[in-house]
Amino acid sequence: MKKASILILFVCLNSFSQTNTAKTTGLISDKAMVVSAREEASKIGTEIMQKGGNAFDAMVATELALAVAYPYAGNLGGGGFMVFRKANGEIGSLDYREKAPLAASKNMFLDKDGKVIKGKSTESPLAIGVPGTIAGVFAIHDKYGSIPMSEILKPVIALAEKGVIVTQRQEKRLNDYRAAIIKANGENTKFAAIYKQNDTIKYPILAETLKRIAKNGKNEFYKGQTAKTLVKYLQGKGSIITMDDLAKYEAKWRTPLSFKYKDLKVISMSPPSSGGICLAQIFKMIEPYDLSKMGHNSDESIQVIVEAERRAYADRSYFLGDPDFVKIPLKGLMADDYLKQRMSSFNLDKATLSSEIKEGKVTYNESTETTHYSIVDQFGNAIAATTTLNDGYGSKYYCDELGFFLNNEMDDFSSKPGEPNMFGLVGNEANSIAPQKRMLSSMTPTIVEKDGKLFMVVGSPGGSTIITSVLQTILNVYEYNLGMQEAVNASRFHHQWLPDVITFEPNTFDTNTFEKLKSKGYIINEKTTPVIGKVDAILILPDGKIEGGADYRGDDKAVGF
Ligand code: DON
Repeated sequence: MKKASILILFVCLNSFSQTNTAKTTGLISDKAMVVSAREEASKIGTEIMQKGGNAFDAMVATELALAVAYPYAGNLGGGGFMVFRKANGEIGSLDYREKAPLAASKNMFLDKDGKVIKGKSTESPLAIGVPGTIAGVFAIHDKYGSIPMSEILKPVIALAEKGVIVTQRQEKRLNDYRAAIIKANGENTKFAAIYKQNDTIKYPILAETLKRIAKNGKNEFYKGQTAKTLVKYLQGKGSIITMDDLAKYEAKWRTPLSFKYKDLKVISMSPPSSGGICLAQIFKMIEPYDLSKMGHNSDESIQVIVEAERRAYADRSYFLGDPDFVKIPLKGLMADDYLKQRMSSFNLDKATLSSEIKEGKVTYNESTETTHYSIVDQFGNAIAATTTLNDGYGSKYYCDELGFFLNNEMDDFSSKPGEPNMFGLVGNEANSIAPQKRMLSSMTPTIVEKDGKLFMVVGSPGGSTIITSVLQTILNVYEYNLGMQEAVNASRFHHQWLPDVITFEPNTFDTNTFEKLKSKGYIINEKTTPVIGKVDAILILPDGKIEGGADYRGDDKAVGF
């Protein structure tokens, strides 16, 4: 009797953390699917596959459709990372991350006393890195595309011409950022206008830019008329980006970072993203603990995950940067002995403290300005891609003559060792600014295999919280048996070493859990982060069908067939 009531109590407590989790199943399709931040983009990607295109063709279409339908993060003026797994098991990844301009220098964001000048790496024309997206989609298409670029771009151009309906969330975002956009571009810029929900925004100038790119290829953006217009605009604003910077830009194929977690093989992005390495470290540090027994979002599970996150982010800060410029001890950082040793100072009775930095030094904003999409095609190929302008609408600099925003990715460098960037991340020498160097990223496009077969495609926006959102989504499915949509819906938490605080999505966790954590010395912030990550993922079900998980935290949508 006593045992039974304890069991009921345990089940009740254990399910508390999921009470806000709508018990839903995502879209189930037979063969192919795109899950992205906007239905229009998911549809265009899917239609390309219906026409016989593969996941790579669909990736190009989705990436550029997001540049039209989701200018908040989708882009021509930013960059990203893509990880793929082909049906035959071959894996690879592309780095189309922005680069520092040739005239960039280590201390460019510091004043004469060596202090970081507020806003210079985020809001000034110097915040803009050399864009990589167009080089990225052409590199992918050249190597793996199966239908002509002009065909892929047709529906994207048509969307730009026909226009995109403003959602409630978009109305709010445009309102929130209008003043900053006007400040950067003047009163006559496109987004100075007030757009309301259900209005249609047409993008004729962007359509023209895309048409020129469709006709003239990658060089149009990096050497041609578009390049000239862009550089004229940028230099007029005070940017240091030159024609030479654009001409020199190349996307780079990189070996993805793969590791085992129990019977999963996780394939993720290697540096200059910190995503894969941090994910690997965290997974390996938590592997010895029985998380499923501890319970989903229970105090003990949270402790184990937080302590692993704390240690991984500390390493991120010190060791990681662009591998073309700094030597990263990848093997050492992922070695079992090292990670076991890292966790040896942890016990369940008491929090390990990160440092003197206390809660409150960094305030988080809603962090969904990047965008991730997941694709599985009818041939069994899979793609995870995350792309960004960094902040919402990037630097806010919008080239009206070309129809797109420019990133403020330079803030992802460490302006000065130990000084937090906009995500509160601190960095070191490894991530200092140098000409042509890529800034460290947290983007974590990830593909998971189980028993040698494709199992999950996953990723998220969210700055520093990307890695921990991806981690929790995989754990939700694998350790806690949630379906794909449930795993995406489930409440999330985050720790990044500094500041030494656990952030929780508000009003979704058991307050008893907070009390228990506080009593062990954890500092908790439930208030300032309404959203942690915005995950778009696909799960291969045991019967071979596929389930989409489109994050309800945004307008995200799965489309498939
Ligand atoms: O590459 C990075 O880690 C960041 N620039 C990503 C920015 C991001 O996710 C914005 N959304 N919150």
